[in-house]
Amino acid sequence: MAKKNFTGEVYYPSDDVISKAHIKDWNELSKKASEDFLGFWEERAKELYWFDQWEKVLDDSEKPFYKWFIGGKTNISYNCLDVHVKTEKRNKLALIWEGENGDFEAMSYYRLHKETCKFANILKSMGVVRGDRVTIYMGRIPEIVIAMLACARIGAIHSVVYGGFSVEALHERIEDSQSKLLIVADGAYQRGKIVPLKEIADEALQRAGGIEHVIVVKRTGQEINMEFGRDMWYHELRSLPIANQDCALEVMDAEDPLFILYTSGTTGKPKAILHTHGGYQVGTYTTLKYVFDLHDEDRYWCAADPGWITGHSYIVYGPLLNGTTSFMYEGAPNFPYPNRWWQMIENYGINILYTAPTAIRGLMRFGDAWVKRHDLSSLRLLGSVGEPINPEAWKWYFSVVGNEKCPIMDTWWQTETGMFMITPMPCVPLKPGSGTRPFPGIEIDILDDEGNSVKTNEEGYLVIKTPWPSMIRTVYGDPERFVKQYWSKYPGIYMTGDSARRDEDGYIWVIGRVDDVIKVSGYRLGTAEIESALVSHNSVAEAAAIGIPDDVKGNVIYTYVILRAGVDPSDELKEELRQHVAHEVGPIAKPASIKFVDKLPKTRSGKIMRRVLKAEELGVDPGNLSTLEE
Ligand code: WT7
Repeated sequence: MAKKNFTGEVYYPSDDVISKAHIKDWNELSKKASEDFLGFWEERAKELYWFDQWEKVLDDSEKPFYKWFIGGKTNISYNCLDVHVKTEKRNKLALIWEGENGDFEAMSYYRLHKETCKFANILKSMGVVRGDRVTIYMGRIPEIVIAMLACARIGAIHSVVYGGFSVEALHERIEDSQSKLLIVADGAYQRGKIVPLKEIADEALQRAGGIEHVIVVKRTGQEINMEFGRDMWYHELRSLPIANQDCALEVMDAEDPLFILYTSGTTGKPKAILHTHGGYQVGTYTTLKYVFDLHDEDRYWCAADPGWITGHSYIVYGPLLNGTTSFMYEGAPNFPYPNRWWQMIENYGINILYTAPTAIRGLMRFGDAWVKRHDLSSLRLLGSVGEPINPEAWKWYFSVVGNEKCPIMDTWWQTETGMFMITPMPCVPLKPGSGTRPFPGIEIDILDDEGNSVKTNEEGYLVIKTPWPSMIRTVYGDPERFVKQYWSKYPGIYMTGDSARRDEDGYIWVIGRVDDVIKVSGYRLGTAEIESALVSHNSVAEAAAIGIPDDVKGNVIYTYVILRAGVDPSDELKEELRQHVAHEVGPIAKPASIKFVDKLPKTRSGKIMRRVLKAEELGVDPGNLSTLEE
């Protein structure tokens, strides 16, 4: 990109960075892609393998139910594994893994392919067929990757539930997806302790019907309950003759479902976001290649969890589609000491680190010395995702971790988008706190309530105006909700739920959610989930949850509780309620504050006005109160 005088604080890429990058001129690529976005994506799709070519790139006859690569036949696991096994990448490492306790695993493409086939044969032998849903509930261990790929191989739809979720969150997701098989680990190591995943799953299964078989992966080795006839050890199944290492794959239609992933929305239960084999692979493959500028010799580390979309797209599918070597780490960043991450970057020679602002702020707190002890000169690129990154954390990441030579890719996207939507590339000048510009071929706008584009630097609703290949296809089992949630405020335009502004250079600054989604440490939680967990406790009549800004976590959860008649408020009860939310939803949802109140501010139609609670908590003007009940 030609140098130009941008406004504000700008970091221009060095000639060295540009000379190595796949994309050297963002303007040129972007211009080409916006003139013909279908042609742009079609060319990208041709870089992957298809058993049968598509007849048409996009079918928009049933908008907003867009379809991509119509008639194309493929299977994402074929492009992740089989394709590479046929080339010199066969012996290349696909995955390097370190356990929190120091365990180690390294898997070539050849081996990952075989392990995937074995797992796929196990699933088949248990009666899993194309289109069935399989719930996966594990920590960050290689088997989660194998399990996901095995489902994809046989056309089963995986539904991964993050290992940090707990009983009710898991129950709800198993039930809603009507899964018939659960893959779980006995436990997960986290900060030196064991998260009892199987125990949590047992409790969830007491509440949920439908699961016929449970495959249990041994990780932590503590005593667990194994229900006869239902639960089976993976390592035992794996050594049976049925676990053959050859497994024919299902030829999938481009639009056949690949996975569902639950995410929190404005109201009610979490939504099952559906992604498909064809478009999703084109989107994740292309964006990762261009933005993290993958080269054959790279060792890439996305420090997210496979249980979230970042892990699906950029730990599992994107890197494997690109034939990259990925690193995965099981545990906490500061265990046993705050240098754990830096130590591993040095040990493994990591070139690309992709993480979240909350992790950066958390590690920054321990001071520069922990970082400086290590040789991090292998790092070439850094990344950030999950919430806006504050300029202070950006600069620390850039100077202390990246030694002022690694551009930071601040990628804005969502579970629903499947891939990066607003993001720099290494050749793009950076401004701390801005994701810069839309990815080529993506049309973004910022609108006011009437649907007009707002003026430069004015805040408005962030929307996406043209379809993209890895877009959400529907809310699984609830197509009406899909239309209502995303496409109804401005007909024909995708509503992100975020607010943003655009500056004089066309750079986009995402401000935050405009709905009842709370981002805690980058994790997406709905007020409704926290509130219903509180109300499920027998001393609670009503509850409201809001997000309050926090220096490290981005936001923390504050809750307001009306107790049932006859229940006495006490500090013990507060602690009990916090534990109850952690037990039902997960430790990430634990409220930082619980206040007992007599009344909640409501509209005349009975909706809780959370912004009034928030304004009161922050001591700011609550704005228009005309709809308040009293
Ligand atoms: C929401 C989506 C997709 C990756 C993980 C989160 C916020 C995400 C950024 C960023 C500012 C960001 C938005 C978005 N968000 N990345 N780089 N800058 N905000 O996926 O759980 O579906 O959450 O995360 O608010 O809507 P998700």
